[in-house]
Amino acid sequence: MTYWNEKAALVTGGSAGLGKAIARSLVSAGARVALVARDASNLRSAADELGGAARGVVSIPADVTREDDVARMAERAGSELGTIDGLFHGAGRSDRGEALATPVSRFDELWRINFVAAVLCAQALAPALRAARGHLVLIGSLASKSASRHLGAYPAAKFALAAFAQQMRLEHDARELHTLLVCPGPLARVDAGSRYDARAVGLPTRPAARAAASNSRASTPSGSPRASSTPAGIGGPS
Ligand SMILES: NC(=O)c1ccc[n+]([C@@H]2O[C@H](COP(=O)([O-])OP(=O)(O)OC[C@H]3O[C@@H](n4cnc5c(N)ncnc54)[C@H](OP(=O)(O)O)[C@@H]3O)[C@@H](O)[C@H]2O)c1
Repeated sequence: MTYWNEKAALVTGGSAGLGKAIARSLVSAGARVALVARDASNLRSAADELGGAARGVVSIPADVTREDDVARMAERAGSELGTIDGLFHGAGRSDRGEALATPVSRFDELWRINFVAAVLCAQALAPALRAARGHLVLIGSLASKSASRHLGAYPAAKFALAAFAQQMRLEHDARELHTLLVCPGPLARVDAGSRYDARAVGLPTRPAARAAASNSRASTPSGSPRASSTPAGIGGPS
């Protein structure tokens, strides 16, 4: 018997990557799970892969950056799952680029998927989560804690997610609504390290970035603030 046995959870970004891995664990632990993503066909394949209706897996196509979709998603999750013990917000996306060369439209886009979508989902599901004394699990990144070079609009959006998580923890007793911020480093996946290559064109290569970082450390007296700053280049938190 595990904690999640016979409980119910909604996983955004549940058709791929970390979201699907979380959903798989929840299903293995005996939970009923609603998977959410935009592409209905990928969502159906993921739901089938995890055991489908026979294992209590349902799919709810929705774009979590859209308020109307999120409202519909919450309503459908309520009718499919009944109680909702956990919202695992895995939908999100990384980026590459120098901050000053990243168009503001890109900051808007990354902000919407990595931050606003989390707020929309949390607000829509909070009544159900509180009724169940449940869990809000936000998938951040190492970039929620420390910005690296050349990650475009990603760190700013993930930092905001960390602020939201902190505020939620201060405003709600954890026994009534527990908030967890997960901050993974780069995930092991087949396309790890090459996934954002198209957006990284023209940026310093990883060895060059490392060399620059180590030159800067070598020319800085040890123990000074500059010597101890984070030397991460591209390929850091994603
Ligand atoms: N990959 C890493 O190394 C890494 C490291 C640290 C943190 N993270 C974080 O972990 C989370 C998952 O990353 P991942 O790389 O595993 O993701 P992924 O494989 O790219 O999968 C993203 C999932 O989110 C869904 N999604 C994207 N935009 C959506 C939207 N607007 N509405 C609803 N669903 C949407 C996608 O399906 P559709 O496209 O069909 O909507 C898919 O199911 C993200 O928050 C990411 O920032 C990832």
